[in-house]
Formats: sequence, C-alpha cells, structure tokens
Amino acid sequence: MEFLMIAAAGLMQSFCDNLSPNAAPGFLSSLCKNENIATDLGAHLSSAANVWLPGSTTFNTATTRWSSLDAPGISVVVEVATENDVAETVKYANANNLPFLAYNGGHGAIETLGAIENGIEIWLGKLTSVSIAEDGQTATFGGGIRSKQVTDALWAAGKQTVTGACECTSLLGPGLGGGHGFLQGQYGLIADQFESLNMVLANGTQVTVNKDSELWWAVKGAGHNFGIVTSVTSKIYDVQNDGLWSYKSFYYTYDKVEELYNAINRYLGTGKKQAMNLMNYSFFFNYPAIDPNHPVIAFFILQQGVGAVEEKYAEPFEKIGPIMSTGGKGTYKDLPTWTSNADDSLPCQKLGLVNARFPVDLQSYNPSAQRLAFDAFTNFTQKFPAFNNSLVLFEGYSTQGVQNIQADSTAFSHREGNLLVTPLIIYPPTDRKRDLQGSRFGEHLRQVLYHGSGQDEMHSYVNYAFGSEGPEAWYGYEPWRLERLRSLKAKYDPKGRFNFYAPFDRRKVHSPHYPSRKKVYISN
Ligand SMILES: Cc1cc2nc3c(=O)[nH]c(=O)nc-3n(C[C@H](O)[C@H](O)[C@H](O)COP(=O)(O)OP(=O)(O)OC[C@H]3O[C@@H](n4cnc5c(N)ncnc54)[C@H](O)[C@@H]3O)c2cc1C
Ligand SMILES: *[C@@H]1O[C@H](CO)[C@@H](O)[C@H](O)[C@H]1NC(C)=O
Ligand SMILES: *[C@@H]1O[C@H](CO)[C@@H](O)[C@H](O)[C@H]1NC(C)=O
Ligand SMILES: *[C@@H]1O[C@H](CO)[C@@H](O)[C@H](O)[C@H]1NC(C)=O
Ligand SMILES: *[C@@H]1O[C@H](CO)[C@@H](O)[C@H](O)[C@H]1NC(C)=O
Repeated sequence: MEFLMIAAAGLMQSFCDNLSPNAAPGFLSSLCKNENIATDLGAHLSSAANVWLPGSTTFNTATTRWSSLDAPGISVVVEVATENDVAETVKYANANNLPFLAYNGGHGAIETLGAIENGIEIWLGKLTSVSIAEDGQTATFGGGIRSKQVTDALWAAGKQTVTGACECTSLLGPGLGGGHGFLQGQYGLIADQFESLNMVLANGTQVTVNKDSELWWAVKGAGHNFGIVTSVTSKIYDVQNDGLWSYKSFYYTYDKVEELYNAINRYLGTGKKQAMNLMNYSFFFNYPAIDPNHPVIAFFILQQGVGAVEEKYAEPFEKIGPIMSTGGKGTYKDLPTWTSNADDSLPCQKLGLVNARFPVDLQSYNPSAQRLAFDAFTNFTQKFPAFNNSLVLFEGYSTQGVQNIQADSTAFSHREGNLLVTPLIIYPPTDRKRDLQGSRFGEHLRQVLYHGSGQDEMHSYVNYAFGSEGPEAWYGYEPWRLERLRSLKAKYDPKGRFNFYAPFDRRKVHSPHYPSRKKVYISN
C-alpha cells in the first residue's frame, strides 16, 4: 500500500503542526519536514503530479539506481507531470534551501552525485510526450523520454534519430553530455540533433535555448550543469533500407587477444577510415562455461543496410578461430537486444550492485596493452570472485558524423576519440575496503590502456566517468573551454544548484572511493 498521496497529506499535516519541535524525536521531525513539502509544494503542482516519501513502494522504485556506489541522498520524490511542475519544484527547493536533482533513467553513476544529502528528486518519468513536426524534419520529446520510447514512436512514422544504445537510459541523460549511439556515424551525437531545448534554469525560470542563445554551446556536452530540460526538439531522419542491420558475433579464448586486436586495427579501420555503416565492439568477461580459468573475449560486428555482415569484414575474424560465432539480420530495433542493451538485458537491471566505470578514449588498439589489461583482468577476477561479473568494454562506433562537426562548436570536446573504452567494475557492495579495492582495480586497468596508447591527455567521456577524473578530462584541456563554461556558470547558476553531475569546479569533485595517488599503480 502506498504510504502517501498528496490527498492523504492533510491528516499528517495537522499532526505535524501540533508537534513541538523540541520534544519531537529526530525521525518524526524529519518526517514532518517532508510532509510540509508534500502539502506546500503540492499546492503548486499540476493535478497529475505526485509527491512520494520514504516508506512508499513508489519512492523506492523512483530512487533505485543502476549503481549503488555514492548514490545521492534523496528524502522526497516529486513526480512531475508538466514542464511547469519542474519550475515550481526548483523554486520551492531554492526557497527552502534544499538541494535537488533531475532523475531520468537512473543510470547516471558518477561519484559526484554522492554529495547530495536530503535532496529533492525531480522525477521526470511522466514527461514522455512525442510530437513529430508536419514537415517530418524534427520531433519534440518530453524531457523524461527513454531511448526506446523515442525509437518506437519514430519508427511507427518511418523515422529515426540518434539515441544511446541502451533502451533503458533516457534521451537527455546521455544527450546533455554528448550522447553516443548506433546512428552517430551518419548524424553525429545526440546533442548534435538538438534544435531547441525548453529548460528550467537554476532560479526556476523557464527558457527556450536554441542556436541564438548564449547557452547553446554549453548545453551540447555540459548541459547537466545548467538546467533541467523539460522538452527537446531534435532532428529526425527517414529510415532507410527498411532499417536493415546485420551482425556477427565471435567468442575467443584468452590466447587470441593480440591476434584479435591486430585484426581489428587492420581490417576494420579506425576513425574516418572505418566504414560509416560498420561498427564493432568487444568486451572481456568471465564465462566459466567456456573457460573456468580465464575470461573470454566477445567481439561483435554490426553493419547497417546489408542482410549479412560482408565477408571481407567477417572473414579475418573467422580465421582467428573463435570458439563460437553467430550472426543474424534484423532491423535497427534489434540492435539493443543483439548487444545486450535491451530493457530486459542484464545491463538495464537495477540489482543493487556497484557499477563503476573508468573511461578513456583511444585512437586505436595497442595489442600488447590489450594483453596486459586482459591478464590483469584475469588475475584479479580469478583471485577476487566478488568482482568476477566485471567487464572491460571496447566500443568502436563509427565516427564520421561526430568528427565532421567542428570540435569548438560544442562543449562536447572529445570528438576525435575513435574508441570508447572502459573497464566496468561490478560487485555487490559490502564496505569501503571493497569499494577502494574495486576503484583501484578499475583505475589500474584504465592506466594500462592509457599508457599503452601513447596519448598525452586522458579523455574520459563524462557520462561514463567515475568522478575522480576532473573537469579537464571531461570537458577538454584547452583552457578556453573551462573558462567559457565557468563564466556561463557564474551567470546562469551562481549558487551552483546544478553542481552534482560532473561539475566544473574542481573543489566540488567529490570522490571518496578514489584511491589516493600513491596507491594507483601506473604500468611501465
Ligand atoms: C547500460 C548502459 C548503457 C549505456 N549506453 C550508453 C550509450 O549508448 N551512449 C551513451 O552516450 N551513454 C550510454 N550510457 C551512459 C549514460 O549516458 C549515462 O549513464 C547517463 O547518465 C544515463 O542517463 P539516465 O537518464 O539514464 O540517468 P539519470 O541518472 O537519471 O541521469 C543522469 C544525470 O543526468 C542529468 N539529467 C537527466 N535528465 C535530465 C534532464 N532532462 N535535464 C537536465 N539534466 C538531466 C541529471 O544530472 C542526472 O543526474 C549507458 C549507461 C548504461 C548504464
Ligand atoms: C572496431 O572498432 C574500432 C573503432 O572504430 C575501429 O577502430 C575498428 O575499426 C572497429 N571495427 C569495427 C567494429 O567496426
Ligand atoms: C598475472 O599473474 C601471473 C601469475 O601470478 C603473473 O605472472 C603475471 O605477471 C600477472 N599478470 C599481470 C598483468 O598482472
Ligand atoms: C564468480 O565466482 C563464483 C564463486 O567462485 C562462481 O560460482 C561464479 O561462477 C563466478 N562467476 C563468473 C561469471 O565467473
Ligand atoms: C533567472 O536567471 C536568468 C539567467 O541568469 C535571468 O535572466 C533571469 O532574470 C532570472 N530570473 C529571475 C526571476 O531572477
């Protein structure tokens, strides 16, 4: 039974009004503070909005996150139903000096979120409207829409647009930080599709941000720091070739690491040399049914517009001698299922586990660094089984659409990165010791791959970031970038209300589970 609906709040209110603040035990006074939110704020919200307090099933559902490490402290959930509800909630939070956070798919996992205590969650799950413009060039989506809802609604009209690969993440959670997806080779990032955004600013004012706005540059890559997007108008495209895609997957044993990554470099090409309709990705993972003593490597090739992955791409990988391989054809809508990113796939589930990522962009594979990382991954996950569901992910999206856009035209700065690489350290949470052990392991794997690349800047995709990397790694090292972001921040959010998701101010970077410098092992 739900503990609270606004309608029931009146009764509780009179109880709270009669409670002497000094005599009340702590838990009762905090309960009453939340009750006040329900009644005071409730009066300003639309009729379909709800306020949920701890103890209700809906509160639990609404606050459950994909990763349990450093989850934000939420004491009340406001389930908004209109764009104006968002503005009212922000104004209320400010007037009462309470921190607040937009909640969408709940897959954000950066440690900086942990700085929120007693916060108001602004749950966007009801803002899922879709309307396709008459000319078929754009569509307007509610700020809480998920990838799958975008794809399904457009598909019904023969249209598509860039979303994240995962059905369960929102459009805007990824999009405000850039947003990678299967169609980026053709059209660019999610943020590159934006035509205009309705946003609630830090002071609760509602504005429309478009190419003529000062914030336009900033919202395309650093948008989480400037407001809550209540709706977005984005470019959409005709589905071509009936949306035909095909895939091949290969599983390799531990002895094939060098051969595989040499072949990817050689036959699939990176960056602009990689065909626009071709993508590949791979991951290291433990699969005891194939090999109980070592992890194995899964490798996927995805190709658009063909009924089967072309032989010239598949054959070199057959020759390496996979232990298993499969393939198939379908449509764009099958990609999440093939790649384990569908609503019912494991990565979409919220299981109370820690999911910590340590991203680094690479230009191409260094097979000996891949070997070192593989062996380190083997040693650690064999020795510490609590971590044996971890993965190391290597995503090779096609990049033309991303790289064709001027890098200085958006706050998303890492357009030249060809490969999106990240260890994903997964474990059941127990204590701080295990958290430190996990983050040390993830950082070690990242350092091995980074040092193997010979690159001299660590670029870490903000939406995968662990939280310890810092603003240059997220937003770019050219000094003008952070200067520009900080000066916009000083104007639009001087009180730092949106400082919980990869903030620009280094002092706000809160990373309790990051090992101290001394302990980080750097490979040589
Ligand atoms: C299984 C999985 C697959 C993924 N696949 C991809 C992928 O293919 N491409 C990719 O780019 N990333 C991908 N990611 C990373 C993804 O971009 C981030 O996890 C992102 O934070 C998820 O957004 P969310 O809405 O689900 O999470 P939330 O935790 O709800 O949102 C994250 C943060 O975004 C902000 N936010 C969300 N909505 C709004 C809004 N409307 N207005 C303003 N701020 C908002 C808030 O600060 C919030 O804390 C993936 C992540 C997972 C877990
Ligand atoms: C595999 O990924 C990398 C990144 O693009 C790329 O270098 C290689 O060409 C890709 N192969 C695939 C999957 O297309
Ligand atoms: C893994 O463990 C083996 C055996 O203990 C050791 O020889 C090897 O150096 C380790 N490799 C890495 C990369 O840690
Ligand atoms: C992880 O370790 C446990 C305990 O040793 C084992 O039962 C399980 O099969 C392992 N899982 C994987 C994916 O390796
Ligand atoms: C809110 O902030 C914006 C941007 O700084 C400003 O233009 C606007 O006047 C402010 N609104 C109020 C009511 O203070």
